[in-house]
Amino acid sequence: MRITIIGNGKMARGIGTRVRAGGHALTILGQDSAKANQLAAELGAAAAPLEPAFITGEVVVLALPYRAALEVATRFAPALANKVVVDISNPLKPTYDGLAVSADTSAAEELQKLLAGKALVVKAFNTAFASTLVEGKVGGQVVDVFVAGDDARAKEQVLRLANDGGLHGVDVGPLARARQLEHLALLGIMLQQQLGTAFNTGWKLQLPL
Ligand SMILES: NC(=O)c1ccc[n+]([C@@H]2O[C@H](COP(=O)([O-])OP(=O)(O)OC[C@H]3O[C@@H](n4cnc5c(N)ncnc54)[C@H](OP(=O)(O)O)[C@@H]3O)[C@@H](O)[C@H]2O)c1
Repeated sequence: MRITIIGNGKMARGIGTRVRAGGHALTILGQDSAKANQLAAELGAAAAPLEPAFITGEVVVLALPYRAALEVATRFAPALANKVVVDISNPLKPTYDGLAVSADTSAAEELQKLLAGKALVVKAFNTAFASTLVEGKVGGQVVDVFVAGDDARAKEQVLRLANDGGLHGVDVGPLARARQLEHLALLGIMLQQQLGTAFNTGWKLQLPL
């Protein structure tokens, strides 16, 4: 698959590492081309300016803060049409003790509304911390990637991306499940201080034998 990641921060590095581990072609688009070039060189990927013509992947990961993801999606809506758009955001309040979206929606659903059904929005990767994605494992166990979406094919592509990269994709249902995924991520963030951990824990779904 051809994957485009918009953003060149911590999650771009984590997800990009897994994309490349899975043997997929990756282009990093950043607002700061020096940073995008540096990350791309590290990952063995291509870099390009943040312009619509360079959004060439069939899967586009928005590795951006929630508000920036909405902004970029608004700006590039025509270029995102018919593509699988992966929302990884956790729309945290500035106080880090709650979510900045109301309980009857999620960042992913807001993004889907904004794109007016023209792109296929999938929620994924938001419950995994960036450093654990670089490693692919936490405590010797493969990182779970919970995937929610309304389009079966789009969701399948994102599950494949996670699995190819050595992670464990878990289909959690329709896009509305993003509400629970965003709260799960919030709990993980809030627990770091209490556990004395450094954003290096993970959520694992254990299945019966
Ligand atoms: N960090 C984690 O462990 C983690 C885990 C799960 C989910 N998430 C979610 O993943 C997303 C990215 O987080 P991160 O930790 O990767 O953040 P980060 O390291 O701060 O990177 C954010 C990226 O967004 C870019 N950006 C910011 N505003 C922009 C705009 N208006 N237009 C274009 N690019 C813009 C930044 O560009 P510049 O470098 O040029 O400023 C940077 O490349 C967030 O939504 C977060 O909630 C993070």
